[in-house]
Amino acid sequence: MGTPTWEHDMRRASLLVLGVFIASLLHIQVMRAQSPAPRVRAAQDGLALTPPMGWYPWNEFGQDPQNETLIKQIADALISSGMKEAGFAYVGPDEGRCFSRGANGKLTDNFSGYPSGLRGLGDYIHQRGLKYALYTDAGTHTCSKAMPGTKGHEFEDMAAFAAWRADYVKIDWCNTEGQVPSESYSKLRDAQLAAGRPIVFSLCSWGDGEPWKWAAAVGHLWRTTGDICAPGKADWNLAMKNTAENEKLFAAAGPGHWNDPDMLITGMDGLSETQNRSFFSLWCIMASPLMAGNDLRKMTPSTIQTLTNREAIAINQDPLGIQGHIVRRDGQTQIWAGKRLFDGSQAVLVFNSGTAPAQVHVAWSDIGSEDSAALYVRDLWMHQTTGPQSGGATVTVAPNDAALLRIAKSSAFPAPPIIVADSYWLSFRASGAGPQKLSRTIMVKTTGTDDLALWKMHAGLPSWLIVEVTKHGKTQTFANTISTAGLAKGAYHAQVRADNIEPRSGLPLSTLYYDVDLEVGGAAGAHTGR
Ligand code: GLA
Repeated sequence: MGTPTWEHDMRRASLLVLGVFIASLLHIQVMRAQSPAPRVRAAQDGLALTPPMGWYPWNEFGQDPQNETLIKQIADALISSGMKEAGFAYVGPDEGRCFSRGANGKLTDNFSGYPSGLRGLGDYIHQRGLKYALYTDAGTHTCSKAMPGTKGHEFEDMAAFAAWRADYVKIDWCNTEGQVPSESYSKLRDAQLAAGRPIVFSLCSWGDGEPWKWAAAVGHLWRTTGDICAPGKADWNLAMKNTAENEKLFAAAGPGHWNDPDMLITGMDGLSETQNRSFFSLWCIMASPLMAGNDLRKMTPSTIQTLTNREAIAINQDPLGIQGHIVRRDGQTQIWAGKRLFDGSQAVLVFNSGTAPAQVHVAWSDIGSEDSAALYVRDLWMHQTTGPQSGGATVTVAPNDAALLRIAKSSAFPAPPIIVADSYWLSFRASGAGPQKLSRTIMVKTTGTDDLALWKMHAGLPSWLIVEVTKHGKTQTFANTISTAGLAKGAYHAQVRADNIEPRSGLPLSTLYYDVDLEVGGAAGAHTGR
């Protein structure tokens, strides 16, 4: 029959994707029939269908250096370093001094550290096509007691996070004496739903209460381990401990519900270039959230190359969302596999945790293929393809190094969709006599190999807003037209939701949200909002 064609492979891959999606849909439907709570929260909000990517300050900075200036500089560095284009999107403060609780019980911004307020910081981030991450705690206080926790104020606090326009909230587990993780976090989920803003919910109980058993219905990711380092210095041994603990939980991960072995240490003091690369490879094959933790304002070219390696990120961001695991150990070497990808290829990692170089033979039967199969091998750090070859592949791996491979019947190795937007916020101001019509656009593109289907608007837009989506290759334009006819003076807000639907299965590949503000009767003209 000759060499399989690209179309042939894509057809097989589509069938595979279709099968997986239908199986999970049926599962979700069955669960829905039995109980009103979805088994996977993301089945409703479409958030974090691939592992969240972004940046949090804790690993590098700890508490006190955090403030608005730092977060804005990091947001700018996400863009100038190319990390945004590679998929890194969520950014914001971790435990710092962002808010306190006022006498009325409500949270108030700390304007000395954050002069624009927490909403102002969010607007800055959204104007740049990035998404806004904030932090709090499920107990009485955050860990150092620098800020109030949510206990007893769950609904007010989640309303505050929604008003600040957070897209992601990490909820820590300090000062929670007597609390039960599944109960506290479920209450916070209810509070988030009541606040009405779709927010990625990152549970941070360090594995307490075994969240991998229940948290898919509550949030989108959960920490499986203790902290990966103390602020300021990477710790390779702790990273290896977190890897080992997280590896065992591979069956719990999937689209919208991820095991989180903590933020990245790539690019921090204390790791060699080799360790940076193999650490990143491990997080990619484990489908772990990729929240960078280093100082993005001063990265070496090698750190930037590691963090923006699209071929490695393609493994992490694969839409099937499978977490790879160890399929064979031999002394100090490990073969990781079990991670099928959307095009029918598979990711394989050979990791040498020892002190001497190792030569490792990966037999095709180790990774679930027939030894007689003729397969291509793509080295995702060398960016080289070899093959087709049968039997297997032999790689030499230096101490602490890792070979990250993609193995397939075809040599095409397509990249999955990664969505990058030019803004997540539009603001209109209309004044003067008579009704006005104003228009502005948001551009969204995929950096994947294939064009995406046309984004499909979700129902429920207010009557003053019309959104039209058009497609030009990999870019799509959301044209937003507002009309003030019949509107009273005042402020209006809408959140636009669009889903990108996998054409063959009819199920969402990615969900996009952005905010539109309208002020009627303010100062003259259209305020650009970015
Ligand atoms: C815990 C979390 C860390 C960080 C600190 C802040 O230790 O696991 O990631 O948020 O709290 O104090």
